[in-house]
Amino acid sequence: MNDSIKPVTAKTFQTMKNNNEKITMLTAYDFSTAKYIDEAGIDSILVGDSLGMTILGYDSTIKVTIDDMMTFTKAVSNGVKRTMVIADLPFLSYHVSKEQTTINAGKLIQTGANAVKLEGASDFILDEVNHLVNSGINVMGHLGFTPQYINTIGGYYIQGKSYENTIKLLESAKKLEENGAFAIVLEMVPVESAKYITENLNIPTIGIGAGNYCSGQVLVIDDLLGKFPGNVPKFVKQYANIKDIMKQAISKYKNDVKNNIFPFEENMFNLTKEEKEKLEYAFTK
Ligand code: KIV
Repeated sequence: MNDSIKPVTAKTFQTMKNNNEKITMLTAYDFSTAKYIDEAGIDSILVGDSLGMTILGYDSTIKVTIDDMMTFTKAVSNGVKRTMVIADLPFLSYHVSKEQTTINAGKLIQTGANAVKLEGASDFILDEVNHLVNSGINVMGHLGFTPQYINTIGGYYIQGKSYENTIKLLESAKKLEENGAFAIVLEMVPVESAKYITENLNIPTIGIGAGNYCSGQVLVIDDLLGKFPGNVPKFVKQYANIKDIMKQAISKYKNDVKNNIFPFEENMFNLTKEEKEKLEYAFTK
């Protein structure tokens, strides 16, 4: 590793919140995207279980396994020098026992993640957060809309929409903080609720669909690039239209092959003049 590069850590997150400096985070699932994100100076990459939808084509995160997460965490961590890598613990990988949670979190850390993320704040989960942190594993929480609970929530609903629910979210966030979480993702929460929660916590909040008072922001890279084929939520800002660029390039390639235009001269290997002449002579015999 280059000595002049100072990697972002959980401590850096806290310093940034204390200094009112916004924390940047994007999801990534592969080597080259991770490299570009790192080179752009983004503070952190989330190897999100959103890869279930963006990479594996599922309709939710439920089918994602710890082996899937390990594969993509390895690819991402190979692409970064400075950016902190946080990997999602997938559905049910931290719900059975503390032992299993520790083994699964350990797998992600040993594959290259600097921290893990898990969803919710039940007593069971708080206990696990505590145990992981005491085992030397940085943990980021995830509250508000929690995609792994899609079947019990019943749909993509905004969370914390009332005073009472905002207070409940803050209580959960505080418990995560007390048990050692270094940051919390707030997903699909009204701006005012996210502001109140952020201001009443010591640790940073990272918002997605939670307004601009959070300590930082995260977006799914496929949404930001305009690559995902399905609908994108209201909170997404599409900064490019990669989908159309990809489709145009693929069609052009198809046409060039069908019409024998590709490969072009510069894409081919040639025999030396001498070898070519020998070959031509052999043909004439
Ligand atoms: O899996 C993911 O990409 C996430 C973000 C939506 C925060 O959890």
